[in-house]
Amino acid sequence: MMNKFLPVIGLLSASFVLSGCGKKEDAAASNNNAGGKKSLTLGFSQIGAESAWRTANTDSIKDAAQKAGIKLVFSDAQQKQENQIKALRSFVAQGVDVIELAPVVNTGFEPVLQEIKQAGIPVILSDRTVEVSDKSLFTTFVGSDFVLEGRRAAEWLAKHTNGKATIAELVGTPGAAPAIDRKKGFEEVLAKYPDMKIVKSQSGDFTRAKGKEVMEAFLKAPDAKSITAVFAHNDDMALGAIQAMEEAGVQPGKDIMVVSIDGVKGAFEAIVAGKLNCTVECNPIIGEMIMGLTQKVANHEGIPERVTPEEGVFDSTNAAAALPGRKY
Ligand code: AHR
Repeated sequence: MMNKFLPVIGLLSASFVLSGCGKKEDAAASNNNAGGKKSLTLGFSQIGAESAWRTANTDSIKDAAQKAGIKLVFSDAQQKQENQIKALRSFVAQGVDVIELAPVVNTGFEPVLQEIKQAGIPVILSDRTVEVSDKSLFTTFVGSDFVLEGRRAAEWLAKHTNGKATIAELVGTPGAAPAIDRKKGFEEVLAKYPDMKIVKSQSGDFTRAKGKEVMEAFLKAPDAKSITAVFAHNDDMALGAIQAMEEAGVQPGKDIMVVSIDGVKGAFEAIVAGKLNCTVECNPIIGEMIMGLTQKVANHEGIPERVTPEEGVFDSTNAAAALPGRKY
């Protein structure tokens, strides 16, 4: 089930030699590869380094660029949209061939995307999408179905609690597509179960530190004892919440069930240790796919509008078997 993408995109062209890199100034370096062919330059505006998922995603993109011989101009936005907009304008000024954008939030990008379109540079959205009135502002979106992930988390919880749970929710970054969509999918399923209710909901910004901080506050509230489950929009926040529970003398995974999303190695370890009950997979290993698409859009070849990874659900029944093969 894991790490397969639908539909399958063509493999990387062999006509590019190694030259991938991660520094801005590297884009200005020679634009010709050893065979004399012009190599491609991809400007990538990444969201940040807020989670283990994000680090795995960045590594996947950098590795794949290097293998494909694509020059990567990498910019870390530190979870700030204004930094992304600056990076995108700088990519235009540098004349990159293709731009990859993983947008921190899903609104507010339309004006800069218009500027990029006028400069004739194709845009590939990765991980998260944007809301725009003009769909021609990007060529494709490679990323998970976050609504489906939210539904899967709720379905798992409903099944394992016989439809009875008082839930504390750790929400992702406000305005981010995965935070909006995972909540939507989760609540869609909850609507079918009258005895499953979200009683607390607060953003932990997709980080472990904030997930811990928010859970500490939840556990100090007068009605804390009523909480029977935590739904965290990512594993990092769930792992922070688990730490907060342990420090408060609450047994995570037993006194309070914990369900989250991503499927990073730390989550698998927590499942095996009995502290996390379920993680719904969100696949960050999309680098090879992005490089294949970069080459296709640069060659004006047709590409699918949407590429969605196939992902699994892990709990005590299958996490231990999958753990040794988990790379991130
Ligand atoms: O957009 C994907 C989400 O962003 C991942 O679930 C989370 O860990 C990351 O920070």
